[in-house]
Amino acid sequence: MKFTFEGRFVIVLTASILSLAACKQPAKNTSATPTMTDTTQATLPPEKGFKEIVDGKLTHYYVLKNAHGMQAAFTDYGAHLLGLLVPDKSGKLKDVVIGFDEIEAYKKALSAYYGATIGRYGNRIAKGHFVIDGRRIDLFVNNKPNTLHGGRKGFNDVVWDTKSVTDSSITFSYLSKDWEEGYPGNLQCKVTFELTGDNAIKISYEATTDKNTVVNMTNHSYFNLNGIGSGTILDHLVQFNASNYTPVDSTLIPTGNIEPVAGTPLDFTKPATIGSRINDKNDQLKKGKGYDHNLVLDKHDLTMPVASVTGDKTGIEMQIFTTEPGLQFYSGNFMTGANTMHGGAKDDYRTGFAMETQHFPDSPNKPAFPSTVLKPGEVYKTVTIYKFSVK
Ligand code: BGC
Repeated sequence: MKFTFEGRFVIVLTASILSLAACKQPAKNTSATPTMTDTTQATLPPEKGFKEIVDGKLTHYYVLKNAHGMQAAFTDYGAHLLGLLVPDKSGKLKDVVIGFDEIEAYKKALSAYYGATIGRYGNRIAKGHFVIDGRRIDLFVNNKPNTLHGGRKGFNDVVWDTKSVTDSSITFSYLSKDWEEGYPGNLQCKVTFELTGDNAIKISYEATTDKNTVVNMTNHSYFNLNGIGSGTILDHLVQFNASNYTPVDSTLIPTGNIEPVAGTPLDFTKPATIGSRINDKNDQLKKGKGYDHNLVLDKHDLTMPVASVTGDKTGIEMQIFTTEPGLQFYSGNFMTGANTMHGGAKDDYRTGFAMETQHFPDSPNKPAFPSTVLKPGEVYKTVTIYKFSVK
C-alpha cells in the first residue's frame, strides 16, 4: 500500500494525538506504559559516559547523521559503534545496535565485544598459535583453548586516534606495534564509518605492515532490528546468500571442511526466522549452543547482498554487502542479562545477533582457506555495508 506524504503526515499526526491523549489519562494499570514508550523516538547513548581516561589517553564521543534522520554514535575507545538510529515502518527511530551508557559498562562486558572494532585477528585461532615464515607465533589463549578476537587486549580495548570527522563520517587509526599480543609486524590500521545517503553504514578497513603478519578485522555489533530491549531476535527473518559453511569442532574451530548448508539448520538460502530451527537436534547447533558459525558467502563483491534480516515488529530490513568471503552468524547464545543496555533493559539471552563479515576462523592454520597473510608493501582493504530500509 502506498501513502502520499500528506496522507502519512495526517496518520502520524492523528496517531500522535491519540497516543498523547492516551498518555494523559491517569494510568489505570501498567498496560498504559507501553503506549507511552512506543511513541518516543529512540535516543543514542549520552556523551557523558565516554569522556574518560583509558590507558592514559582521553576518550571521546562522536555522533554522525545523514539527511534522512539516521544517526550513529561512536567512541575512540575500541572504535566502538555505540548506537544506530534508523526509522521503522511508521517513521519512528529505533536504536538497532546494542550499546551501553558508559565506557565502564563496555569494560565490564569486554568478552562480549559489543559494537567493537575487532583485530588484529577476528574470530578464533586454534590453541593460540600458528606458523608464519617457518616461525611459530604464540598468542594469548583468552577463550580456552583458543585465541579469540585479538587475544588479551584486542583492538576493542585500546584507544584509537581520531583522524578525521565530518557530519556523516569518521576515521579512526591505530598502530598495533610489532609483537603486540604476539603478532609480528607494526600494523598501521584504519577504520572509517560513513552514514550514506541511502541509509547505510559503510565500514572500510585498511592496514599496512612492515613484516609478514595476519589480519582479519571486523565489527562486532549486536543488532536487534525491533529495537534494543524489545525481546529476543528469534522472530527476525533471515536470508543468506551462502550455500556452504565451515563446520566446527566442540571448541568452535573449523574442521577445515567446507560443507553445503542444504539439509541443515544453517540453510538460510530461503528466508527463515532465526528461531525456526535453532533448537533442532543437530550436532553443529549443539557445538555452537545455537548459531555461531561461519558462512561461506557465494558472492562477495558488493554487487548483491550477502545477507538480509528483517525485524518482525518494526519492518526494518538490514541488507549486508561485503568484500569479505565469510560471515560469522552468532545468535547471542552467551548473552545472560548481566549488563544493562542504553535504555535500561538487560542484555538477555538471544536479544541480539551479530553478523561479522570476515575471513574464515583459524585461517592461519588452514592453508586451504583464503589467506589472511599481509606482507610489507601490500594494503589490506575490506568494505562492509549494513543498509537499512523498511518492509
Ligand atoms: C563468537 C562467539 C563469541 C562472541 C562473543 C562471536 O564472534 O563467534 O563464539 O561468544 O563472539 O565473544
